[in-house]
Amino acid sequence: MFADVVVDLQYGDCGKGKVTHHLCKSGEYTHVVRYNGGCNAGHTIYHEGKKFVTHHIPSGVFFGIKSIIGSGCVVNPIQFFKEYNELKDAGMDIEGKIFIAENAHIITEVHLEEDGKDESIGTTKRGNGPAYRDKYARKGLRAKDIPALQPFLIDVYKEFFQNPYVDPKVLFEGAQGFGLDIDWGDYPYVTSSHCTVGSAILNGMPPQMIRNVWGVAKAYETYVGAKKFHNPNPLFDRIREVGEEYGATTGRPRQCNWMDWELLCKAINLNGVTNLVINKMDVLREVQHWTIKDRSIMHQFDTEDDMMDWIDINVPRRSVKKLLFSGDKESI
Ligand code: IMP
Ligand code: MG
Repeated sequence: MFADVVVDLQYGDCGKGKVTHHLCKSGEYTHVVRYNGGCNAGHTIYHEGKKFVTHHIPSGVFFGIKSIIGSGCVVNPIQFFKEYNELKDAGMDIEGKIFIAENAHIITEVHLEEDGKDESIGTTKRGNGPAYRDKYARKGLRAKDIPALQPFLIDVYKEFFQNPYVDPKVLFEGAQGFGLDIDWGDYPYVTSSHCTVGSAILNGMPPQMIRNVWGVAKAYETYVGAKKFHNPNPLFDRIREVGEEYGATTGRPRQCNWMDWELLCKAINLNGVTNLVINKMDVLREVQHWTIKDRSIMHQFDTEDDMMDWIDINVPRRSVKKLLFSGDKESI
């Protein structure tokens, strides 16, 4: 038994789906588990030349791996069936591959209606916050309470510990990111779940079983929501266009900013990242600007190589064993 975890180190949208997709190709995993969030997340995946955007369904399903929406998630059954049918209609062989932890909580119409009125946080209006609130207030509905979900239910404890036919090798796939974590993010401009590695082990995996933690960041930062994230700068507008920085769930333009080194180091340390991936280097290459914000210092680099060297030298090495840079169109 072992588990690898994919975790986002900034504000979501750093390319976790891409890393998960890459890791799944190894063929070594028996399960992929989404460990937090609901359909606020949007995973953009390019598989065999086709673009797919999933919200609930983990990307392991593209490889025929058993894919579980874990107990740390909240599920909107209508959205779940919509995605399920879309994948089936696209010809994917997903029958018997998609599961929902029976103790995952449900997003109801009432949650959607309430979240739909949010103006202060800039939520995705997918009912996430109210669903988690009702979970912790102990008045939520769980997947096992919903008749239509019965064929998809799974007891993760039985699956991982009591199934004589399975030696679990699990890939945990996170949603959102460190800056949106309910405890470590910029409260109240956060989501309502834990977006750190601790969240993965709450979904049925003992901590000793964690092998690698894949921390995913971008060469610059993006954020969607109500807070002001940057000062006006034509370079950020350019990054948004080149990087196609528009929300996968809501289509909102993402605010862009330079990489915040302090935040990144904190996320690396607290998550115990072993493999660090910096995505979207190709965007800065096209914009021809490379800057890292380190508290009050702005490090400006003349070339991509200079930026990569600086990161290599300065990255906290307590846990990081591997550092990979990637352009979106390249494979990692
Ligand atoms: P909620 O998760 O819909 O409640 O939204 C809370 C905050 O998290 C808002 O700023 C959202 O834009 C942000 N957020 C939620 N999910 C994602 C995501 O998947 N990517 C990026 N931002 C997200
Ligand atoms: Mg996303």
